[in-house]
Amino acid sequence: MKIAVFDSGIGGMSVLYRIIKLLPNEDYIYYADTAHLPYGEKSKDELKKYIFQAADFLMAHDLKALVIACNTATSAAIEDLREYCPFPVLGVEPAVKPAVLESEKENKKVLVLATRLTLKEEKFHQLVERVDKHDIVDGLPLPGLVTLAEAFHFQEDQVVPYLKEQLKPFDPNQYGTVVLGCTHFPFFKDSIQKLFPEKTDIIDGSVGTAKNLKRILEERHQIGGGTGAVSFYQSGRKVEDRETLNRYHQLLKRLDHLQ
Ligand code: DGL
Repeated sequence: MKIAVFDSGIGGMSVLYRIIKLLPNEDYIYYADTAHLPYGEKSKDELKKYIFQAADFLMAHDLKALVIACNTATSAAIEDLREYCPFPVLGVEPAVKPAVLESEKENKKVLVLATRLTLKEEKFHQLVERVDKHDIVDGLPLPGLVTLAEAFHFQEDQVVPYLKEQLKPFDPNQYGTVVLGCTHFPFFKDSIQKLFPEKTDIIDGSVGTAKNLKRILEERHQIGGGTGAVSFYQSGRKVEDRETLNRYHQLLKRLDHLQ
């Protein structure tokens, strides 16, 4: 049996990376819905259609669990997916709670970087309402980072000018924590960190998801039995060309470098 990790594109690899670290003896399917990128700029109803197409495809692969390694897809469809799938379905959401707890202590604010859809969705507003008692959470959509990541443009000279422009209305010194609320963003952690004071924390929610997955598999006595192999799919088609596979493996290595 396999674990499937799903995203609109390469972003979910930042989650897959953490999961493999914690669960090395599993077999993985990584599914990128590249035909329908970017998710963050689409309507919730349109997204649900794409996400369920992918879920139907993945269901034929004898899964232990499905990880929705996309904040946008999680906010659009996680509850419906949990009802639909006969195996555990895990999601990722912006790590707002730990960010608020930490930043409050220092009288600082929290900046959540995510997609437009994630920031607009009810799920995000409810989360903020629950934990942000002193109104310290701000949000900023950064669709340009999704475009840059999908083009494999990670160099600072391409990324920093875009970030500087988007961050103009914000004073970096006010923020104790920056939350990476889109799984494409950890690839840019170095560049983002450069635009904030050194002691500003840059965090994401993928560690929590990986730990939850481990706990659930343990409870179900389903840990292990695999080799750590990953098969890659793009919108229902197995990726077999060497160049794309090499790029994917390089990306996972790049995350190693960022830790
Ligand atoms: N990686 C996705 C997320 O975590 C969204 C990227 C997109 O807009 O497709 O929200």
